[in-house]
Amino acid sequence: MLDRAVSDYCDRATTPESTLLAELARETKAHVHGAQMLSGIQVCALLKLLVQMTQAHRILELGTFTGYSALSMAEVLPHNGELITIERSQATAQLAQFWFDRSEHGHKIQLLTGEIKTLLPVLTGTFDLFFIDADKKAYPDYYEMALTLSHPGSVIVLDNMLRQGKVLAPEDEQAQVLDKLNQFITQDQRVTNVLLSVRDGVQVVRVKE
Ligand SMILES: C[S@@+](CC[C@H](N)C(=O)[O-])C[C@H]1O[C@@H](n2cnc3c(N)ncnc32)[C@H](O)[C@@H]1O
Repeated sequence: MLDRAVSDYCDRATTPESTLLAELARETKAHVHGAQMLSGIQVCALLKLLVQMTQAHRILELGTFTGYSALSMAEVLPHNGELITIERSQATAQLAQFWFDRSEHGHKIQLLTGEIKTLLPVLTGTFDLFFIDADKKAYPDYYEMALTLSHPGSVIVLDNMLRQGKVLAPEDEQAQVLDKLNQFITQDQRVTNVLLSVRDGVQVVRVKE
């Protein structure tokens, strides 16, 4: 939620994306409807740092789109690490899989196609890191589902938590849901958190020991 010039400056002052990710982003912007959904350089650099700082081995992503954030995180996962990502659109999932297959890190990614709420209950074990980036109205449910699949020290990252600033005076339903969730998380005794004004607002949550 920064001024465009400041945000562009931040992009330039952040470790650049890999050549393959730059190509993925370029192709998505040129040919795919909804390219503004790409999380972009800053959010993905932040995700990469979190993967490395938490030494994550197992990651769950909700909302794959063309695979930009999944591939970003996979690039810094250890060789035996695993990233599960869920996408409801068959066509979009196929595009994402195309990029995963082109990457030397693609073998770490398992792409599940279908509805998040149908697929999540099937998952077993715990995850070290979660990236929630799908339908906004369901974020409160996704947050609770992530907590059930977490362990002490797990990190949950939620994107678009500023909703272009609309959470300050929420009028539409999505902004209301996200504003309430920001307040809920901040008071949730199970976690500690920080809401960062990176791009559209990134809520970073750590499950308490
Ligand atoms: C914001 S985009 C994800 C962007 C991606 N994380 C990135 O950084 O490039 C959200 C994606 O979630 C998918 N999605 C939304 N609701 C979903 C649901 N209920 N189940 C599965 N996928 C869903 C959409 O089809 C869309 O591709």
